[in-house]
Amino acid sequence: MTKSPTRRDVLMSFAGSAAFAACNGRPTRIAADTATTTVPITDEPRVCEPSAENIEGPFFKRGSPHRMDLTGGAALGEPLVVQGTVVDTRCLPIAGAWLEVWQADHTGQYDNEGDRFRATLDLDDDAHYRVQTIVPGRYLNGRQYRPAHIHVKAHAPGHRSLTTQLYFQGDPFNDMDPFIDPSLIMSMRYEGTGGERTAVCRFDFVLEPGRP
Ligand SMILES: [Fe+2]
Repeated sequence: MTKSPTRRDVLMSFAGSAAFAACNGRPTRIAADTATTTVPITDEPRVCEPSAENIEGPFFKRGSPHRMDLTGGAALGEPLVVQGTVVDTRCLPIAGAWLEVWQADHTGQYDNEGDRFRATLDLDDDAHYRVQTIVPGRYLNGRQYRPAHIHVKAHAPGHRSLTTQLYFQGDPFNDMDPFIDPSLIMSMRYEGTGGERTAVCRFDFVLEPGRP
């Protein structure tokens, strides 16, 4: 016998959606109106809002090394792990997704001659990524520092490629940056202590259907 959803089931369903949305800083919308539909609540599709685009900037280079570690194993700066999943607008992982990532070092410098802090990430069918890096340094843009950020291009078969940047919650320069989008600000937690402490952030990229 099919069990009808209880009020707690409904609330838990919304709580799960909210937890996913928190990764991207903007709400995940439920497609149907649960108050009027006759479709069972548990069968309703989820809808994930596409991730916001953000400027590419002048330092992108094609053909970065295929790796999950941007540090080269011996970089100065605060250790950081960024992880997440590349999903479609139904919130499902996209097989064959891949990312291009580039960022400044801990002093705010980009390596435009070599490949330090640049990588191409080839993802498995679960479209999950976990990249080892450092918290990037800030750099001057004119007379004003840009907040710390990581540049990303997200690609997947059958989907529009996304160029964007990821920012860090609590950066004092977030509020005055002319390029930042609040939905791209990642929250941060820490694993380990002392010299072993690593900052951990999460961001799920949501891509729209279309030509790559
Ligand atoms: Fe930048």
